[in-house]
Amino acid sequence: MHYRFWAFIAQALTGRRRVYLDSNATTPPSRKVRQAMARAAKYCWGNPSAAYAEGKKSAQLIEKARRQVAQAINAHEHEVYFASSATEWNNALLKTLYHNSAQPRRKIISTRAEHSSVSRSLAYLAAHGADIAYCPIDRHGHIILAELGQLIDSSTLLVCCALANNETGAVQPMAEISKLAKTHGALLMSDCVQALGKIDVDVKALGLDYAVFSAHKLYGPKGAAALYAKITSPLEAFIHGGGQEEGIRAGTEAVPNIAGMGRACSNAKRLAGRAAKTELLKNELARKLMEIEPAIKFNSPSANCLPNTINITFPGTKSTELMLMLDYYGIAVSAGSACGAQPGKTSHVLSAIGLSDAEAASTLRISLSSTTSRADISYLCKKLEAYLKQARS
Ligand SMILES: Cc1ncc(COP(=O)(O)O)c(C=O)c1O
Repeated sequence: MHYRFWAFIAQALTGRRRVYLDSNATTPPSRKVRQAMARAAKYCWGNPSAAYAEGKKSAQLIEKARRQVAQAINAHEHEVYFASSATEWNNALLKTLYHNSAQPRRKIISTRAEHSSVSRSLAYLAAHGADIAYCPIDRHGHIILAELGQLIDSSTLLVCCALANNETGAVQPMAEISKLAKTHGALLMSDCVQALGKIDVDVKALGLDYAVFSAHKLYGPKGAAALYAKITSPLEAFIHGGGQEEGIRAGTEAVPNIAGMGRACSNAKRLAGRAAKTELLKNELARKLMEIEPAIKFNSPSANCLPNTINITFPGTKSTELMLMLDYYGIAVSAGSACGAQPGKTSHVLSAIGLSDAEAASTLRISLSSTTSRADISYLCKKLEAYLKQARS
């Protein structure tokens, strides 16, 4: 409501409307998050490692945020560790787990559709001799469980698979994956960055050993991320120094960012509770787009998908042109994942689900936010319809 009010005022004053439909790239920090961060910056500036009052105040705020993250994902607070980004955790966890593994468990199983912070860490490990196996996925990015069953064995150290894909929105059958991993004594790590705040994430019910979360995907700040590591699962230090974060990730803590992450996570369940409304809007968008251009191809699955994410190929168009045209009219969408977007380079996720280079270059990802309205969807469709009509004529 607050957001819509100010969007309305901004539009009235400038004559320009902004419709933000790229929530999988990032989200704006909510008012409550900004307030929590401002309070932390003002009152909790003491070094959290100091034993006097100023330090203790900062340390207490960090512990509060740790409890807030733990509650959001059904973990114990001793199982939550902070760092600066999910990229940092994905790198650190994969590399330390592999470097500290011993024969016979040296194999890591993953998919070709992971975020680049996972896929490039795996490529790095492969270049250093690791045995990385890629489990096939289907047309929409879901892991093929029967294939995983074939790959996994007593040499498997780790299965690594995102709970929800950032480009297609495919949500993996994680509890099933966990059963397979446990049967063979393998560890299970999941990049849950896109899931928290969009769907329920219960690390215990999903049977995870490790999970990674990033604050800026759920209306928190950039520069804060959390790792869940099950109390009984191995975890090694990767930044050595002053002993912060149980010595796992040393360095003086970014107290305002961590406080902002805690505040954002305390709202995660409420956000996920709005999923049904968001999904209705997404389905309405899909219906309208089909009417406008029956040749479009949906790359997101119709079931087991994030409620806010839709990935669509518009044959015969260039997604960069579509994106720029929409931006001109005040609409933000993605022509590929923001983190991996490199001009002229096909998204590895779209290639992994079988799209040709030409199809991938005609593909948009639209990711709704908790404030997206029906008017926003109509506005987007109107602009796309006009563009496609003109392109065909
Ligand atoms: C699935 C996934 N994992 C990891 C990341 C990286 O998160 P961060 O920006 O905190 O490094 C992203 C960012 O887009 C993501 O979508």
